[in-house]
Amino acid sequence: MKKKICIIGTGYVGLITAVGLSSFGNNVIGVDIDEEKVRKLNKGESTLYEPGLEEYLEDNLNNKRISFTTDIEMAILQSEIIFIAVGTPSNENGEAELKYLYNVLDSIIKYSNTYKLVVTKSTVPVGTNRKIKEYFISNKKDFLDIVSNPEFLREGKAIFDFFHPDRIIIGYENENARKIMEEIYSPFLRTTVPFLWCNWETAELIKYASNGFLALKIAYINQISNLCEISGADVYLVAKGMGMDGRIGSKFLHPGPGYGGSCFPKDTRALSKIAESFGTKISLIDAVIDANEKQKEHVFNRFKNKLGDLKNKKIGILGLAFKAETDDIRESPAIYIIDKLKKEKCIISAHDPKARKNFSKIFPDIQYVEDLYDVANDAEAILILTEWNEYKTMDLYEIKKRMKNPYIFDTRKVLREEELKEKGFDYNFVGLK
Ligand code: UDX
Repeated sequence: MKKKICIIGTGYVGLITAVGLSSFGNNVIGVDIDEEKVRKLNKGESTLYEPGLEEYLEDNLNNKRISFTTDIEMAILQSEIIFIAVGTPSNENGEAELKYLYNVLDSIIKYSNTYKLVVTKSTVPVGTNRKIKEYFISNKKDFLDIVSNPEFLREGKAIFDFFHPDRIIIGYENENARKIMEEIYSPFLRTTVPFLWCNWETAELIKYASNGFLALKIAYINQISNLCEISGADVYLVAKGMGMDGRIGSKFLHPGPGYGGSCFPKDTRALSKIAESFGTKISLIDAVIDANEKQKEHVFNRFKNKLGDLKNKKIGILGLAFKAETDDIRESPAIYIIDKLKKEKCIISAHDPKARKNFSKIFPDIQYVEDLYDVANDAEAILILTEWNEYKTMDLYEIKKRMKNPYIFDTRKVLREEELKEKGFDYNFVGLK
């Protein structure tokens, strides 16, 4: 049955959820405080790069199933279900900052006079949904219900993930809320997508424990790759051999310059703080956070050790986004590495198919090139930091011709070793001796 839904916060999670739920035939209003964003979205222009998103947005706008507004009062009044998808970034202590969430809750309390189901999509510390329910009660809005419905979308594959989730996790307390959530996700009830119904705390922790575990896998393979650099073992074959064990699984064992993005860094820090707030410690997560910081440093040091004095050397950078298929640069390893290169007084020329604009807001004073081959002009070295497909197929003869010194440090191993050898490059990968 068609539902009236509003989604508060049209960032990454909110926008994908809004578009996905309206594609199911619901009437969806996306709410944001940013007028420019709302104007663009109403015209069908996506405010972030995500494959397939704009097509879905346009289709739903044409079918009048979705609209965007800054008028939170109107959106709340017209909706039976309110999804909260505002950011919960790290604060200065590493905890999840909940002020945006509480601003939204205050609006919901102010403008709700009848039953509504509030759905927390934002990643929130264990115990938050229970506190939200208490907050409703203390503000005399005990008719407001709350469920925790954490999000597992991957950037770059978010549309696919929305329609093909591995699982749907719902933390709830009463049967009516469960019934409404079943109706919202009814297109999945007839599929093999598993549902896990649990209490609020369990749902909240599933999100953190999942992201923490994936981050741990990456940190682990990165540390194994450091051992490979010394011992001569091949980390890619080590990862392959490990992945053949069904208990381990082959995914998330790709070594690199360290994980980044909007989730892993902030969620690992928050998980550590959550444990602390309950008087315990997850020392493995603290080790992961530390290992990831050290990995960025380690990758930079290998590069510097190879080139010696970096002053006035021209370095070409391929890839600025924290991973391919996104323009998101939040906590991208490229930020750390370019900052270090700048301190060494390098001359930097950088390419990224989608993230140049976002990156130039933090580093306005490096050169950005539209054509990836231009980073090679007179370069003493090229550093590949993101695994974009176009780097996998670039013409290495052309690259070499333009470089002053044909050295490539491919931190994502997008290039094939045989080809680099054959074309006369000096090269390195993470994990290679
Ligand atoms: C992640 C989770 O996958 C998603 O379920 C969650 O809801 C949000 O966080 P995302 O941040 O989009 O999604 O990216 P993901 O593909 O998981 O990669 C995260 C980081 O790990 C990237 O910097 C990526 O380059 C790095 N990574 C990933 C590796 O270095 N090695 C790997 O093997 C996998």
